[in-house]
Amino acid sequence: MANPRTVVVLGAGPAGYVCAIRLAQLGQKVTVVEKTYVGGTCLNVGCIPSKALIAAGSLKERIAHAGAMGISADNVRLDVGKLVEWKQGIVGKLTGGVSGLLRNHKIDLVMGKGSIVDRNTVAVATPEGTKTLKCDDIVIATGSVPIAIPGFAFDERDVWSSTGALAPTSIPKRLVVIGGGYIGLELGMMYAKLGSEVTVLEATGGALPGQDRDCVKIIERSMKKLGMKLMVETFAQGYERKGSELHVKVKTKAGEQVIVCDQIASMVGRKPYSEGLGLEKVGLAVDAKGFLQVDRQMRTKVANIYAIGDIAGQPMLAHKGSKEGLVAAAVIAGHKEEYDARCVPAVIFTAPEMASVGAQEAELAAKGVAFKVGTFPFAASGRAMSLMETEGFVKVIADAKTDEVLGVHMVGPEVTELVAEAALAIELGATAEDIARTIHAHPTLPEAIMEAAESVHGMAVHIFQPKR
Ligand code: NAI
Repeated sequence: MANPRTVVVLGAGPAGYVCAIRLAQLGQKVTVVEKTYVGGTCLNVGCIPSKALIAAGSLKERIAHAGAMGISADNVRLDVGKLVEWKQGIVGKLTGGVSGLLRNHKIDLVMGKGSIVDRNTVAVATPEGTKTLKCDDIVIATGSVPIAIPGFAFDERDVWSSTGALAPTSIPKRLVVIGGGYIGLELGMMYAKLGSEVTVLEATGGALPGQDRDCVKIIERSMKKLGMKLMVETFAQGYERKGSELHVKVKTKAGEQVIVCDQIASMVGRKPYSEGLGLEKVGLAVDAKGFLQVDRQMRTKVANIYAIGDIAGQPMLAHKGSKEGLVAAAVIAGHKEEYDARCVPAVIFTAPEMASVGAQEAELAAKGVAFKVGTFPFAASGRAMSLMETEGFVKVIADAKTDEVLGVHMVGPEVTELVAEAALAIELGATAEDIARTIHAHPTLPEAIMEAAESVHGMAVHIFQPKR
């Protein structure tokens, strides 16, 4: 086997660039091919810019509600241009940082759309013409793109995709969000905080399908408090522009309705991206959902071609893609390695935030696994009170026989940070008792995880748990 190996990574998102850097660290010769922007969706038009805008929305909202703390600020104004410029500055710093890391690791970056010619050749359409790259291995990390539904083509004027929603020129007075999933709720809530009247249209019976229902109840309540309207079992059919207004036709259980708004944002999911990739040239094909099947070493059925990130299957989350990138890099460099993560944490930057790792109750019940549940409300946390953010709770699910932590689901302040402890617990096979016996610093939010773990055994100190 040639060593160092020459590797072409297709895509410079959080799966591809992480894989490339690790390959270089392991002494391999790497070229990254990127069609649009270094850093991919995550850094440019996804995770990072959305979190910047969400933080701004939350700050504005907090200022408006700081009266109870004795703080009043009149006439809080928003300069949308400045906000977008600030967000873009963060994106610029991060993408510049990644480009710098690629350079420092002597990784070649070729900008252009790459396609597979054969098992050892990639052609890149660059502005200067086609560039041919020979290699020992290929890593496909081409990511995903937003799904468009009939009647709502993304023109980024009337109908925003998440990309358009992250670069507003003004805050729409009335915004209709199609899709009550991760993106719809994160961005819908952000716009509600910045002043929009937001209506969310969701096809299923509730927001955030597939997530812990007790957690989602808190989010739905909070949407109401923000003045948002959630229409469930509702399908958007199409829209018409009438003067300065947009008339959205929706089908609900009660019949058809028209909702008038100034802006539509369509966020009904993402699909893996493999258009024009030349998979057929090497006998590869995507499955019915558009994913490439891989083994635990991230290999496709062609031995020297790997797939990582959104193209390699659910969950389509940046951190899962990065992990797969590290695995593929190690395997290519000849190390014994496989994807053996026990869990992938999920974080949703709603208000309050939601985070989840491991199994859910419904899932365990369906499998016939006996489990115990402990919960602890943030309303009983001194730290949450001092932050004036007492909504939500932590739920710890443990195996009824072994006490091993099987899942942790939470909604409340900073839970997107707290989930790291829960993921570590599951990864290490910790029991609820292990968490309960670990000293947690006081006064901090993670104490709520400790108390929820104590509550699994009816022993939480700061809530009354009557003996069963
Ligand atoms: P999603 O799958 O989370 O939600 C899409 C929602 O749209 C679902 O609730 C679905 O029932 C609904 N829907 C589908 N068709 C519809 C229709 N015709 N009318 C009304 N509702 C309809 O997808 P989303 O929010 O676009 O996010 C895509 C992916 O991006 C997520 O799966 C997630 O992996 C990733 N993401 C992760 C974030 C994070 O980690 N914080 C934040 C945002 C996105």
